[in-house]
Amino acid sequence: MNARVVSPVFVGRRDETAALAVPLQLAHGGDAAFALIGGEAGVGKTRFVAELAARASAAGFTVLAGAA
Ligand SMILES: Nc1ncnc2c1ncn2[C@@H]1O[C@H](COP(=O)(O)OP(=O)(O)OP(=O)(O)O)[C@@H](O)[C@H]1O
Ligand SMILES: [Mg+2]
Repeated sequence: MNARVVSPVFVGRRDETAALAVPLQLAHGGDAAFALIGGEAGVGKTRFVAELAARASAAGFTVLAGAA
């Protein structure tokens, strides 16, 4: 079987989401800000960033993504 199970529901991460409201607010005010997301393999870093990016986009922010 080769099935991927992905929860459509984004669970938890309330504290982390609240913490990132600060750099988002700074960006909204025109100031540069950054946040470093770290964690164990598979803990949910990519999902967290994707959810935040979607929310920021829905709130009217321009979201740019790069990769290396
Ligand atoms: N808060 C969450 N709610 C629901 N599902 C989640 C959540 N966080 C992560 N997942 C799911 O868990 C799986 C692993 O998450 P993800 O790929 O984001 O981890 P990662 O930390 O980026 O992994 P890697 O270290 O391999 O890059 C994915 O299927 C993702 O959708
Ligand atoms: Mg990842």
